Amino acid sequence: MSIVNTVCRLAARPIGMPKPSNFEIIDEPAGNPAEGEFLVRVEYLSVDPAMRTWMNAGRSYVPPVEIGEVMRAGGIGRVIDSRHPDFAAGDEVYGMFGVQRYAVSNGSGVTAVDTTVAPAPVHLGALGISGLTAYFGLLDVGRPRPGQTVVVSGAAGSVGSIAGQIARINGCRAIGIAGGEDKCRWLVDELGFDAAIDYQAGDLRAQLKAHAPNGIDVFFDNVGGTVLEAALSRLARGARVVICGAISQYNAAGELRGPANYMQLLVARASMTGFVVFDYADRYAEAVAQLANWLRSGELRSREQVVHGDVAEFPEVLLALFRGDSTGKLVLALDAR
Ligand SMILES: NC(=O)c1ccc[n+]([C@@H]2O[C@H](COP(=O)([O-])OP(=O)(O)OC[C@H]3O[C@@H](n4cnc5c(N)ncnc54)[C@H](OP(=O)(O)O)[C@@H]3O)[C@@H](O)[C@H]2O)c1
Repeated sequence: MSIVNTVCRLAARPIGMPKPSNFEIIDEPAGNPAEGEFLVRVEYLSVDPAMRTWMNAGRSYVPPVEIGEVMRAGGIGRVIDSRHPDFAAGDEVYGMFGVQRYAVSNGSGVTAVDTTVAPAPVHLGALGISGLTAYFGLLDVGRPRPGQTVVVSGAAGSVGSIAGQIARINGCRAIGIAGGEDKCRWLVDELGFDAAIDYQAGDLRAQLKAHAPNGIDVFFDNVGGTVLEAALSRLARGARVVICGAISQYNAAGELRGPANYMQLLVARASMTGFVVFDYADRYAEAVAQLANWLRSGELRSREQVVHGDVAEFPEVLLALFRGDSTGKLVLALDAR
Protein backbone atom coordinates (compact mmCIF):
# COMPACT_ATOMS: atom_id res chain seq x y z
CA MET A 1 0.00 0.00 0.00
CA SER A 2 1.38 3.45 -0.84
CA ILE A 3 -0.30 6.01 1.40
CA VAL A 4 0.77 9.59 2.09
CA ASN A 5 0.92 10.35 5.80
CA THR A 6 0.82 13.89 7.21
CA VAL A 7 2.92 14.08 10.36
CA CYS A 8 3.44 16.74 13.02
CA ARG A 9 6.97 16.55 14.43
CA LEU A 10 8.44 18.58 17.28
CA ALA A 11 10.85 21.04 15.64
CA ALA A 12 11.97 23.10 18.66
CA ARG A 13 11.25 23.28 22.37
CA PRO A 14 8.94 26.20 23.14
CA ILE A 15 9.76 28.94 25.60
CA GLY A 16 6.44 30.11 27.02
CA MET A 17 3.39 29.60 24.83
CA PRO A 18 3.97 27.16 21.94
CA LYS A 19 4.23 28.66 18.45
CA PRO A 20 3.59 27.08 15.04
CA SER A 21 7.38 27.20 14.46
CA ASN A 22 7.83 24.68 17.32
CA PHE A 23 6.31 22.09 14.99
CA GLU A 24 7.07 20.81 11.52
CA ILE A 25 4.25 19.44 9.39
CA ILE A 26 5.54 16.98 6.80
CA ASP A 27 4.02 14.69 4.17
CA GLU A 28 5.80 11.36 4.03
CA PRO A 29 4.93 7.76 3.13
CA ALA A 30 2.93 5.90 5.78
CA GLY A 31 4.86 2.86 6.95
CA ASN A 32 3.84 -0.67 6.04
CA PRO A 33 3.00 -2.91 8.98
CA ALA A 34 5.50 -5.71 9.54
CA GLU A 35 4.50 -9.09 10.99
CA GLY A 36 2.88 -8.39 14.40
CA GLU A 37 1.94 -4.82 13.46
CA PHE A 38 -1.06 -2.98 12.00
CA LEU A 39 -1.78 0.31 10.29
CA VAL A 40 -4.32 2.75 11.76
CA ARG A 41 -5.99 5.67 10.03
CA VAL A 42 -6.24 8.20 12.84
CA GLU A 43 -9.67 9.85 13.01
CA TYR A 44 -9.71 11.75 16.32
CA LEU A 45 -6.85 13.28 18.29
CA SER A 46 -7.06 14.05 22.00
CA VAL A 47 -5.80 17.59 22.62
CA ASP A 48 -4.40 17.76 26.16
CA PRO A 49 -2.69 20.35 28.37
CA ALA A 50 -0.04 17.72 29.20
CA MET A 51 1.19 17.94 25.60
CA ARG A 52 2.79 21.24 26.51
CA THR A 53 4.74 19.58 29.34
CA TRP A 54 5.84 16.72 27.05
CA MET A 55 7.53 19.34 24.83
CA ASN A 56 9.93 20.30 27.64
CA ALA A 57 13.23 18.57 28.29
CA GLY A 58 13.75 17.27 31.81
CA ARG A 59 12.37 14.87 34.37
CA SER A 60 8.68 14.08 34.26
CA TYR A 61 6.34 11.10 34.56
CA VAL A 62 6.96 10.27 30.87
CA PRO A 63 10.06 10.99 28.75
CA PRO A 64 9.98 14.25 26.76
CA VAL A 65 9.10 14.19 23.06
CA GLU A 66 12.48 14.50 21.36
CA ILE A 67 13.17 17.05 18.64
CA GLY A 68 12.23 15.44 15.31
CA GLU A 69 9.85 12.93 16.92
CA VAL A 70 6.16 12.71 16.06
CA MET A 71 4.28 14.85 18.60
CA ARG A 72 2.81 12.46 21.19
CA ALA A 73 -0.99 12.25 21.32
CA GLY A 74 -3.71 9.83 22.23
CA GLY A 75 -6.07 9.12 19.39
CA ILE A 76 -8.83 6.96 18.03
CA GLY A 77 -8.70 5.47 14.57
CA ARG A 78 -9.62 2.56 12.36
CA VAL A 79 -7.34 -0.35 11.57
CA ILE A 80 -6.96 -0.44 7.78
CA ASP A 81 -4.33 -3.15 7.39
CA SER A 82 -3.24 -5.74 9.92
CA ARG A 83 -0.58 -8.39 10.33
CA HIS A 84 -1.37 -8.66 14.06
CA PRO A 85 -3.37 -11.61 15.41
CA ASP A 86 -5.48 -9.49 17.81
CA PHE A 87 -6.40 -6.60 15.50
CA ALA A 88 -8.32 -6.82 12.23
CA ALA A 89 -9.00 -4.32 9.46
CA GLY A 90 -12.14 -2.38 10.41
CA ASP A 91 -11.49 -2.38 14.19
CA GLU A 92 -11.93 0.98 15.94
CA VAL A 93 -9.07 1.43 18.43
CA TYR A 94 -7.54 3.85 20.94
CA GLY A 95 -3.81 4.29 21.39
CA MET A 96 -0.96 6.78 21.60
CA PHE A 97 -0.86 7.15 17.83
CA GLY A 98 0.68 10.65 17.74
CA VAL A 99 -0.28 13.75 15.77
CA GLN A 100 -0.40 12.18 12.32
CA ARG A 101 -2.94 10.73 9.90
CA TYR A 102 -1.59 7.18 9.88
CA ALA A 103 0.24 5.21 12.55
CA VAL A 104 1.90 1.80 12.53
CA SER A 105 1.41 0.05 15.86
CA ASN A 106 2.49 -3.21 17.46
CA GLY A 107 -0.61 -3.12 19.68
CA SER A 108 1.16 -1.96 22.82
CA GLY A 109 -1.28 0.15 24.86
CA VAL A 110 -3.95 -0.15 22.15
CA THR A 111 -7.51 -0.92 23.23
CA ALA A 112 -10.78 -1.53 21.38
CA VAL A 113 -13.29 1.33 21.24
CA ASP A 114 -16.96 0.40 21.38
CA THR A 115 -18.77 3.18 19.53
CA THR A 116 -22.12 1.54 20.26
CA VAL A 117 -21.65 2.68 23.89
CA ALA A 118 -20.85 6.30 22.93
CA PRO A 119 -19.45 8.17 19.92
CA ALA A 120 -15.66 8.06 19.52
CA PRO A 121 -14.89 11.54 21.00
CA VAL A 122 -16.55 10.51 24.28
CA HIS A 123 -13.96 7.73 24.52
CA LEU A 124 -11.29 10.47 24.61
CA GLY A 125 -13.22 12.40 27.28
CA ALA A 126 -15.63 11.02 29.87
CA LEU A 127 -14.90 7.39 28.95
CA GLY A 128 -11.21 8.04 28.26
CA ILE A 129 -8.21 9.38 30.14
CA SER A 130 -10.15 12.46 31.34
CA GLY A 131 -12.90 10.41 32.96
CA LEU A 132 -10.40 7.98 34.46
CA THR A 133 -8.34 10.85 35.85
CA ALA A 134 -11.39 12.46 37.43
CA TYR A 135 -12.60 9.11 38.82
CA PHE A 136 -9.38 7.95 40.48
CA GLY A 137 -8.15 11.43 41.40
CA LEU A 138 -11.35 12.34 43.16
CA LEU A 139 -12.42 9.02 44.67
CA ASP A 140 -9.06 7.40 45.47
CA VAL A 141 -6.89 10.41 46.22
CA GLY A 142 -9.53 12.90 47.37
CA ARG A 143 -11.65 10.34 49.28
CA PRO A 144 -14.73 12.61 49.59
CA ARG A 145 -17.48 11.69 52.02
CA PRO A 146 -21.15 12.51 51.50
CA GLY A 147 -22.00 15.99 52.72
CA GLN A 148 -18.44 17.26 52.32
CA THR A 149 -17.50 20.26 50.22
CA VAL A 150 -15.49 19.49 47.08
CA VAL A 151 -13.99 22.35 45.10
CA VAL A 152 -12.70 21.68 41.58
CA SER A 153 -10.56 24.13 39.58
CA GLY A 154 -10.54 24.02 35.80
CA ALA A 155 -14.09 22.85 36.41
CA ALA A 156 -15.42 23.46 32.90
CA GLY A 157 -12.54 21.52 31.38
CA SER A 158 -12.49 17.88 30.42
CA VAL A 159 -11.27 16.40 33.73
CA GLY A 160 -12.78 19.05 36.00
CA SER A 161 -16.30 18.81 34.61
CA ILE A 162 -16.32 15.06 35.29
CA ALA A 163 -14.66 15.36 38.72
CA GLY A 164 -17.28 17.83 39.95
CA GLN A 165 -20.12 15.65 38.72
CA ILE A 166 -18.67 12.58 40.42
CA ALA A 167 -18.50 14.60 43.65
CA ARG A 168 -22.16 15.54 43.25
CA ILE A 169 -23.15 11.93 42.43
CA ASN A 170 -21.38 10.88 45.65
CA GLY A 171 -23.50 13.23 47.74
CA CYS A 172 -20.97 16.03 48.11
CA ARG A 173 -21.46 19.72 47.67
CA ALA A 174 -19.66 20.43 44.37
CA ILE A 175 -18.23 23.87 43.71
CA GLY A 176 -16.49 24.63 40.42
CA ILE A 177 -13.96 27.33 39.60
CA ALA A 178 -13.93 28.33 35.94
CA GLY A 179 -13.26 31.30 33.68
CA GLY A 180 -16.26 33.34 32.61
CA GLU A 181 -20.00 33.54 33.20
CA ASP A 182 -20.99 31.13 30.42
CA LYS A 183 -18.84 28.32 31.78
CA CYS A 184 -20.09 28.93 35.32
CA ARG A 185 -23.70 28.90 34.18
CA TRP A 186 -23.12 25.62 32.31
CA LEU A 187 -21.65 24.02 35.44
CA VAL A 188 -24.63 24.89 37.61
CA ASP A 189 -27.52 24.74 35.12
CA GLU A 190 -26.45 21.74 33.03
CA LEU A 191 -24.06 19.70 35.18
CA GLY A 192 -25.72 20.22 38.56
CA PHE A 193 -22.78 21.79 40.40
CA ASP A 194 -24.04 23.45 43.59
CA ALA A 195 -22.13 26.63 42.80
CA ALA A 196 -19.58 27.95 40.36
CA ILE A 197 -17.04 30.72 40.85
CA ASP A 198 -15.70 32.82 38.00
CA TYR A 199 -12.05 33.24 38.97
CA GLN A 200 -11.68 36.03 36.38
CA ALA A 201 -14.34 38.12 38.12
CA GLY A 202 -12.35 39.15 41.15
CA ASP A 203 -11.47 38.10 44.66
CA LEU A 204 -11.34 34.31 44.55
CA ARG A 205 -10.61 33.94 48.28
CA ALA A 206 -13.70 35.97 49.19
CA GLN A 207 -15.83 33.97 46.77
CA LEU A 208 -14.55 30.69 48.22
CA LYS A 209 -15.35 31.93 51.72
CA ALA A 210 -18.88 32.85 50.63
CA HIS A 211 -19.57 29.52 48.87
CA ALA A 212 -17.71 27.23 51.27
CA PRO A 213 -18.20 28.92 54.68
CA ASN A 214 -17.15 25.76 56.57
CA GLY A 215 -14.04 25.31 54.45
CA ILE A 216 -13.00 23.00 51.61
CA ASP A 217 -12.80 19.28 52.41
CA VAL A 218 -11.41 18.21 49.03
CA PHE A 219 -9.69 20.52 46.58
CA PHE A 220 -9.23 18.89 43.16
CA ASP A 221 -6.70 21.12 41.44
CA ASN A 222 -6.17 21.30 37.70
CA VAL A 223 -4.81 24.84 37.64
CA GLY A 224 -2.12 25.53 40.29
CA GLY A 225 -0.63 29.00 40.87
CA THR A 226 -2.78 31.63 42.53
CA VAL A 227 -5.91 29.43 42.31
CA LEU A 228 -4.19 26.76 44.40
CA GLU A 229 -3.05 29.40 46.89
CA ALA A 230 -6.59 30.75 47.26
CA ALA A 231 -7.95 27.26 47.92
CA LEU A 232 -5.20 26.45 50.47
CA SER A 233 -6.26 29.51 52.44
CA ARG A 234 -9.79 28.07 52.82
CA LEU A 235 -9.12 24.41 53.76
CA ALA A 236 -11.27 22.62 56.33
CA ARG A 237 -9.56 20.57 59.03
CA GLY A 238 -8.28 17.26 57.59
CA ALA A 239 -8.73 18.42 53.96
CA ARG A 240 -7.25 16.53 51.02
CA VAL A 241 -5.68 18.58 48.21
CA VAL A 242 -5.46 16.55 44.98
CA ILE A 243 -2.77 17.74 42.59
CA CYS A 244 -4.12 16.64 39.23
CA GLY A 245 -2.40 19.30 37.16
CA ALA A 246 -1.31 22.94 37.02
CA ILE A 247 -2.32 24.31 33.63
CA SER A 248 -1.69 27.91 34.71
CA GLN A 249 2.00 27.02 35.03
CA TYR A 250 2.62 24.95 31.89
CA ASN A 251 3.73 27.91 29.77
CA ALA A 252 5.83 29.53 32.49
CA ALA A 253 9.11 30.58 30.89
CA GLY A 254 11.02 30.35 34.18
CA GLU A 255 10.42 28.59 37.48
CA LEU A 256 6.90 27.36 38.31
CA ARG A 257 5.07 29.35 40.94
CA GLY A 258 4.53 27.14 43.98
CA PRO A 259 2.08 27.91 46.77
CA ALA A 260 3.71 30.48 49.07
CA ASN A 261 1.15 29.64 51.77
CA TYR A 262 1.78 25.88 51.91
CA MET A 263 1.90 26.12 55.72
CA GLN A 264 -1.91 26.24 55.53
CA LEU A 265 -1.59 22.44 55.15
CA LEU A 266 -0.18 22.31 58.67
CA VAL A 267 -2.82 24.68 60.04
CA ALA A 268 -5.61 22.53 58.59
CA ARG A 269 -3.90 19.15 59.27
CA ALA A 270 -4.35 18.63 55.55
CA SER A 271 -2.56 16.57 52.94
CA MET A 272 -1.58 17.43 49.38
CA THR A 273 -1.07 14.49 47.03
CA GLY A 274 -0.10 14.28 43.39
CA PHE A 275 -1.14 11.34 41.24
CA VAL A 276 -0.75 10.02 37.69
CA VAL A 277 -3.73 8.23 36.18
CA PHE A 278 -1.53 5.62 34.45
CA ASP A 279 -0.81 4.09 37.87
CA TYR A 280 -4.45 2.92 37.96
CA ALA A 281 -4.28 1.02 34.65
CA ASP A 282 -5.26 -2.29 36.25
CA ARG A 283 -8.51 -0.69 37.46
CA TYR A 284 -9.49 1.16 34.25
CA ALA A 285 -12.19 -1.40 33.39
CA GLU A 286 -13.95 -0.86 36.73
CA ALA A 287 -13.92 2.91 36.26
CA VAL A 288 -15.06 2.86 32.62
CA ALA A 289 -17.97 0.57 33.54
CA GLN A 290 -19.06 2.95 36.30
CA LEU A 291 -18.63 6.07 34.14
CA ALA A 292 -20.60 4.43 31.31
CA ASN A 293 -23.40 3.53 33.77
CA TRP A 294 -23.58 7.12 34.98
CA LEU A 295 -23.66 8.39 31.37
CA ARG A 296 -26.43 5.91 30.50
CA SER A 297 -28.53 6.88 33.53
CA GLY A 298 -28.08 10.59 32.75
CA GLU A 299 -26.40 11.27 36.12
CA LEU A 300 -23.19 12.19 34.29
CA ARG A 301 -23.03 14.46 31.27
CA SER A 302 -20.14 14.74 28.87
CA ARG A 303 -19.32 17.52 26.49
CA GLU A 304 -16.84 17.35 23.66
CA GLN A 305 -15.65 20.27 21.60
CA VAL A 306 -14.75 18.68 18.28
CA VAL A 307 -12.72 20.83 15.89
CA HIS A 308 -12.56 19.50 12.34
CA GLY A 309 -9.30 19.99 10.52
CA ASP A 310 -6.04 18.53 9.37
CA VAL A 311 -2.78 17.72 11.15
CA ALA A 312 -1.54 21.21 10.20
CA GLU A 313 -4.24 22.73 12.43
CA PHE A 314 -2.94 20.97 15.55
CA PRO A 315 -0.62 23.77 16.84
CA GLU A 316 -3.47 26.30 16.71
CA VAL A 317 -6.01 23.91 18.28
CA LEU A 318 -3.60 23.19 21.15
CA LEU A 319 -3.53 26.90 22.00
CA ALA A 320 -7.31 26.91 22.56
CA LEU A 321 -6.67 25.04 25.83
CA PHE A 322 -4.44 27.80 27.17
CA ARG A 323 -6.69 30.62 25.99
CA GLY A 324 -9.69 29.14 27.78
CA ASP A 325 -11.50 28.73 24.44
CA SER A 326 -12.49 25.12 25.13
CA THR A 327 -15.32 23.70 27.21
CA GLY A 328 -15.28 20.01 28.06
CA LYS A 329 -13.03 17.69 26.06
CA LEU A 330 -11.13 19.26 23.14
CA VAL A 331 -10.78 16.89 20.17
CA LEU A 332 -9.28 17.42 16.71
CA ALA A 333 -11.17 15.35 14.15
CA LEU A 334 -9.03 14.50 11.11
CA ASP A 335 -11.66 14.40 8.40
CA ALA A 336 -11.07 12.11 5.42
CA ARG A 337 -9.30 13.83 2.53
N1 LIG B 1 -2.64 13.61 36.90
C1 LIG B 1 -3.01 12.99 35.79
O1 LIG B 1 -2.85 11.79 35.62
C2 LIG B 1 -3.68 13.80 34.72
C3 LIG B 1 -4.28 13.19 33.61
C4 LIG B 1 -4.93 14.01 32.66
C5 LIG B 1 -4.94 15.40 32.82
N2 LIG B 1 -4.30 15.93 33.90
C6 LIG B 1 -4.30 17.40 34.14
O2 LIG B 1 -5.63 17.76 34.42
C7 LIG B 1 -5.80 19.14 34.11
C8 LIG B 1 -7.06 19.30 33.26
O3 LIG B 1 -6.87 18.63 32.02
P1 LIG B 1 -8.00 18.69 30.91
O4 LIG B 1 -7.59 17.77 29.84
O5 LIG B 1 -9.30 18.56 31.56
O6 LIG B 1 -7.83 20.18 30.36
P2 LIG B 1 -8.88 21.35 30.41
O7 LIG B 1 -9.26 21.64 31.81
O8 LIG B 1 -9.97 21.05 29.46
O9 LIG B 1 -7.96 22.53 29.91
C9 LIG B 1 -8.40 23.67 29.32
C10 LIG B 1 -8.93 24.71 30.31
O10 LIG B 1 -7.96 25.08 31.30
C11 LIG B 1 -8.25 26.38 31.75
N3 LIG B 1 -7.04 27.21 31.80
C12 LIG B 1 -6.14 27.39 30.82
N4 LIG B 1 -5.18 28.25 31.21
C13 LIG B 1 -5.50 28.62 32.49
C14 LIG B 1 -4.90 29.49 33.45
N5 LIG B 1 -3.77 30.15 33.17
N6 LIG B 1 -5.49 29.62 34.64
C15 LIG B 1 -6.63 28.97 34.94
N7 LIG B 1 -7.25 28.12 34.08
C16 LIG B 1 -6.68 27.96 32.86
C17 LIG B 1 -9.21 27.00 30.74
O11 LIG B 1 -10.48 27.06 31.35
P3 LIG B 1 -11.01 28.45 31.99
O12 LIG B 1 -11.71 29.15 30.88
O13 LIG B 1 -11.89 27.97 33.08
O14 LIG B 1 -9.81 29.21 32.47
C18 LIG B 1 -9.23 25.99 29.62
O15 LIG B 1 -10.45 25.97 28.91
C19 LIG B 1 -4.52 19.59 33.40
O16 LIG B 1 -3.72 20.27 34.34
C20 LIG B 1 -3.88 18.29 33.00
O17 LIG B 1 -2.50 18.38 32.86
C21 LIG B 1 -3.68 15.17 34.83
